[in-house]
Amino acid sequence: MRRPFYITTPIYYVNDVPHIGHAYTTIAADALARYRRMLGDDVFFLTGTDEHGQKIEKAAEAKGESPQAMTDRLAGRFQAVWQRLGISNDGFIRTTEARHKQAVADLYARLKANGDIYAGAYEDWYCVPCESFWTELQLKGGACPDCGRAVDKVREQSYFFRLSAYGDRLLAHMDAHPEFVSPKSRYNEVYQFVKGGLRDLSISRTGVRWGIPLPDDPAHTVYVWLDALTNYLTATGYPAPGFERRWPAQVHIIGKDILRFHAVYWPAFLLSAGLPLPERIVSHGWWTIDGEKMSKSKGNVVDPGLVADFFGVDPLRYFLLREIPFGKDGDFSIDRLVQRANTDLANDLGNLLNRAVSMLHRYLGGVVPAPEEVPGVTDRPEAVRIRELCAALPGVFHKALADPAHAADGLRFDEALEAAFQVIGTGNAFVHEAAPWNLAKAGDTRAVGAVLYTALEALRVASLFLYPVMPGTARRIWEQLGLTVDPDTIDLAAAARWGGLPAGAVLPAATPLCPRIDPDTIPATWSIPHEPAPAKETPVTDAVPQPAAEAHQADDDFISIHDFAKVKLQVGVVREAEPVKKSNKLLRLQVDIGTEVRQIVAGIGRSYTAEEMVGRRIVVVTNLRPAMLMGVESNGMVLAAGDAEALGLLTPSADVAPGTRVK
Ligand code: MSP
Repeated sequence: MRRPFYITTPIYYVNDVPHIGHAYTTIAADALARYRRMLGDDVFFLTGTDEHGQKIEKAAEAKGESPQAMTDRLAGRFQAVWQRLGISNDGFIRTTEARHKQAVADLYARLKANGDIYAGAYEDWYCVPCESFWTELQLKGGACPDCGRAVDKVREQSYFFRLSAYGDRLLAHMDAHPEFVSPKSRYNEVYQFVKGGLRDLSISRTGVRWGIPLPDDPAHTVYVWLDALTNYLTATGYPAPGFERRWPAQVHIIGKDILRFHAVYWPAFLLSAGLPLPERIVSHGWWTIDGEKMSKSKGNVVDPGLVADFFGVDPLRYFLLREIPFGKDGDFSIDRLVQRANTDLANDLGNLLNRAVSMLHRYLGGVVPAPEEVPGVTDRPEAVRIRELCAALPGVFHKALADPAHAADGLRFDEALEAAFQVIGTGNAFVHEAAPWNLAKAGDTRAVGAVLYTALEALRVASLFLYPVMPGTARRIWEQLGLTVDPDTIDLAAAARWGGLPAGAVLPAATPLCPRIDPDTIPATWSIPHEPAPAKETPVTDAVPQPAAEAHQADDDFISIHDFAKVKLQVGVVREAEPVKKSNKLLRLQVDIGTEVRQIVAGIGRSYTAEEMVGRRIVVVTNLRPAMLMGVESNGMVLAAGDAEALGLLTPSADVAPGTRVK
């Protein structure tokens, strides 16, 4: 029987659109889910949306929408962004679904049957953004000790859960399971919190309407965290028989901010209900943006979709998991992302593949040679090292991401990725040292074959392990290597063995894998634009209401500022001009764009003579792929309006220096 592996992300609040922090949790879970599928596990990967509670109620009110309309719309935004980022979730849960309401009612009934629910009243401080209660003593400077925001005084009748009764059992569980919470620092934090004594927890609210009514007292709604945490059970089919096939979860991936809810409240509810506890809770750190906390008021909330549109999905996924150890806080800086994309991905990975495949075509007709031991080549220190590093990869990945003996250390995506990139780095160093171009010149085809086989095989083995984090890139590597790989049914240990690249295969011509990012084309902002104000209720007139699909159509006709920034427009000064032979409208221009003089062919000859073009300031597209026009190479495009007979060139109205970007 395949080993079950149930992995979850938190369910995201739908009071706002998805941002880079949400993407981080989800991408990490996705990478682990993909890796566990490769190991042959029966993976169930769940994500979803947290749709009840005061926070959602208030956000909907502020947007002038009903909570249901807002949650429907925003749950869709989350699903769309996950699809965009290549998230392979098997389930998606929304807490407004009927199956979930039933699961919450059932769990509540179990807590009650166990004698852990009692009626009372409290007077406490409530932090709406965190949906948590605080005593006067716990406040920091009168504000929420977690997020520092203002708290509201609430005085309500409420039902309580006897959390205080579970402290000892939680500590005993943690003693017996050092891997229960990771990394270690978070384990210690939870341990100390529980040791400090637990207060009973209010699990119902009367002042909040947007929630699940308490089965035995519908004037109350279920506290949003009891509601939300239950999602992990709902998705297993709970309470219907058979849910035990999925429950308990093998791992809950969460951010450090929601640790207490997952590592204290949730296990206490489960203990009370007589249900098994999740095996592991792995907590990650928080991203700041250029050193600052991400916040709507600062306008620095990074949209993962925009970043993926510009850099590609895989560079973003790679950056997030490679840049900082999982568990530590880190800074999301676009400069660092550019560096990672240009060094690790373009210079190292893309370059090794490109040069190996190109040389295979140049020297060996594109045919993969047989793996051969060639003295002076395969016994070079770099070649030996490549094989050692490849042989170590399965173990390194297992230890970092799957070994129960190292579970208490948390997940170490950065270490695993580093090991895979060591193979690539050593591959490049080897090609450089072995210099197959010299071997080819000397006519030593066997030696050339041995160098290229080693490089291609290193790429094949590394790509298997890069797949969980960079699935699209790995697939493109496999295509280039002429391989068909199904990561969900692969025997990873066998596939990772050296020598798997089949000799005799004819590879397709090299295509670029990871293009370099031109720092000049980087957009200035990555933040999520403010949510558009909701459409006002349509007044009752004779106007025909627009179907929703058509209403969205107009949105799709827009491009983002990032799309626009992809076109590199610069001011140029024409230094020389002459008609292109045998053409009656093409002029060959030499255009000064500050850093160089470019040859550009323009179809403006019927409206402008070559002489009158010299000295003119014009606007040119400088990142257009070069093209041949009537046999003359053109490296850009001149902007003009009108048709060939009546054309007006675009000219800046002041003497802007050549090379200046047009924005
Ligand atoms: N709805 C609750 C979770 C309920 S789970 C039963 C919630 N939602 S959330 O939308 O606010 O946040 C979800 C996740 O996003 C958390 O894991 C949180 O740590 C993560 N992040 C939000 N901002 C983040 C950063 N700036 N950096 C990294 N992760 C962050 O909490």
